Amino acid sequence: MTDPIEHLRKIVNHPENWDFSGAKQLYAGVDLGTYKTIAIIIDEAGMPRAAGMRKTEVARSGLIIDYVGALNAVRELMQEIRKHCPVPIVNGATSYPPKTEYANLKTTTYILEGVELEVLNVLDEPTAANRVLKIENGAIVDVGGGTTGIAVIKNGKVIYSNDEATGGVHLSLVLAGNYKISYEEAEKIKTDKDKNREVLTVVRPVIEKIGSIAATYLDEFDDLEKVCLVGGTCELEGFSDIVAQNIRLETFRPKFPQFITPLGIALSCLDVNGSRARD
Ligand SMILES: Nc1ncnc2c1ncn2[C@@H]1O[C@H](COP(=O)(O)OP(=O)(O)OP(=O)(O)O)[C@@H](O)[C@H]1O
Ligand SMILES: [Mg+2]
Repeated sequence: MTDPIEHLRKIVNHPENWDFSGAKQLYAGVDLGTYKTIAIIIDEAGMPRAAGMRKTEVARSGLIIDYVGALNAVRELMQEIRKHCPVPIVNGATSYPPKTEYANLKTTTYILEGVELEVLNVLDEPTAANRVLKIENGAIVDVGGGTTGIAVIKNGKVIYSNDEATGGVHLSLVLAGNYKISYEEAEKIKTDKDKNREVLTVVRPVIEKIGSIAATYLDEFDDLEKVCLVGGTCELEGFSDIVAQNIRLETFRPKFPQFITPLGIALSCLDVNGSRARD
């Protein structure tokens, strides 16, 4: 059977690989991050059918700071997808980082409604990630662009979560300062596999800091069987090994960690009020 995450990687921003044939229902998952906005369309079985992603600067420290920019980004992504889709896409879900519910719940709901999506679910990011990971007892550390989210899971449910303002952006800032180059150039060097060794040497202290932040939170909890590392920054080769050394717990990094939370957001549509989601 096709691995949904593997398939998602193949279709993101590749309309030629989008395929809606035979789908009985379609659902949209929208993730508005500090680094990127992504919309994923899944079918009733949870298989991704289409997905669009673009770099956006509409959120900071987990909060939407540019409502119009966010609305436009989601609108453009959905317009592109709907252009290729023979049936209407009417249901969707979105999420918010730990401890930002008060500020994000309504904003993100309005954004989805603004692009003609009925909101089936607005859930917290670690719960979304765990929809894919299915951890029973453990933790999820989500290292995104601007923040690192830490969540503890007991009996399959998030019992604690928090967010710290350190993420991939800080790695790029350190690279930019070290090489005296622009932030954009630093981003390119960071993702250049040929420069990986050199990059790790420069950013190692920042990665260790992220690891020690996570460790400080997780030390408060006993019996964590494993820690899963997700988020775009975990795509950096060598990153998870350094974090693992700091956390001192069994740590694993799934394939394509940047897509775990966004896919989980889309999948959450299937859990909501079964009959409503499947109508
Ligand atoms: N291959 C890669 N190597 C290194 N870093 C990467 C790679 N791919 C993405 N990143 C980094 O991942 C970060 C974005 O991660 P992600 O897509 O999870 O962020 P986000 O969800 O938008 O942000 P946040 O969760 O902080 O709101 C950026 O800093 C980006 O540079
Ligand atoms: Mg994120």
